[in-house]
Amino acid sequence: MEKHLQELLEQALAELSAAADSRALYEAKMKYLGRAGSVSALYKTLKTLPQEARPAYGQQINEVRVQIETHAEVRAADLAASELSARLMGEREDVTMPGRRARRGTLHPVTRVKNQLIDIFAGMGFEIFEGPEIENDYYNFTALNTPADHPARDMQDTFYVSGEFLLRTQTSAGQIRLMEKKKPPIKMLSPGRVFRSDDDATHSPMFHQMEGLVVDKHITLCDLQGMLDEFARVMFSEASKTRLRPSYFPFTEPSVEVDVSCHACGGKGCPLCKGTGWIEVLGAGMVNRRVLENCGIDPDKYTGFAFGMGIERIAMLKYGINNIKLLTENDVRFLEQFR
Ligand code: PHE
Repeated sequence: MEKHLQELLEQALAELSAAADSRALYEAKMKYLGRAGSVSALYKTLKTLPQEARPAYGQQINEVRVQIETHAEVRAADLAASELSARLMGEREDVTMPGRRARRGTLHPVTRVKNQLIDIFAGMGFEIFEGPEIENDYYNFTALNTPADHPARDMQDTFYVSGEFLLRTQTSAGQIRLMEKKKPPIKMLSPGRVFRSDDDATHSPMFHQMEGLVVDKHITLCDLQGMLDEFARVMFSEASKTRLRPSYFPFTEPSVEVDVSCHACGGKGCPLCKGTGWIEVLGAGMVNRRVLENCGIDPDKYTGFAFGMGIERIAMLKYGINNIKLLTENDVRFLEQFR
């Protein structure tokens, strides 16, 4: 090979080898093989040579071009591989780095008590039934033996949506809806939100109730107390007892208030039970004959009991919460205590 071709080739190969990245390699290659490159320029000089010298010289230029091309390809592959591995190194995650802990939430105390109540009564064969939060006057009052002008309507301050519709004041409305559809034997548990125009440390305009209803042949007040004893033992303490006091609800006859022996002092008397040893937890009674009749159930054949409790009230007693507002403020420092 002619000396100047040899030198050109060596210089080109050296420049290709020195290219630090794909871009520099491309530029180096174009400097020789590009349209205006030095190898391309050599071809143009062929015309100036005598005819017989052309083939041999042309072959030498070809040789230079092929060597440059081959070397450029090898370099390109090398550079692509090292550029890829450099990028992968740069993007590498350090899997040994300690993770950031996700904060775990807790169940709201009202949800916990509600779930616990469902567990207790589902274990006795109760079925869940949920009624609507917006009720009409019939289900919330009239069918529950509380006609218009009945003085018992004043026991609960009602939010009216319109003349006929209201926000239910008690889950007892669900008793009627269920008994219209289903005939005895009935064992229903009905959780839900209720609304009353009432607002202080232990009352809130929206709260939750759990209603229970059992209707069958030969149901007595003893059946009610037996089930509530079991509820008190599971919810409060193994040693809990219940006591029934006479009361009044239009839809039950007789009606009772149910007290549970104080779980804080065991019945000796303390600030929680105001020294009495007992805490009032719910209202209940034998389903009034009129209510059964309103739902097409023969009160001479069937009897039943019903109970209704405030879930917030149970949660406050169980966990020693002294203000019902804590249950709706959603302060995580408060909520995190219920693990
Ligand atoms: N609905 C009554 C209340 O809200 C509670 C209750 C339910 C009483 C069932 C007796 C029977 O005060």
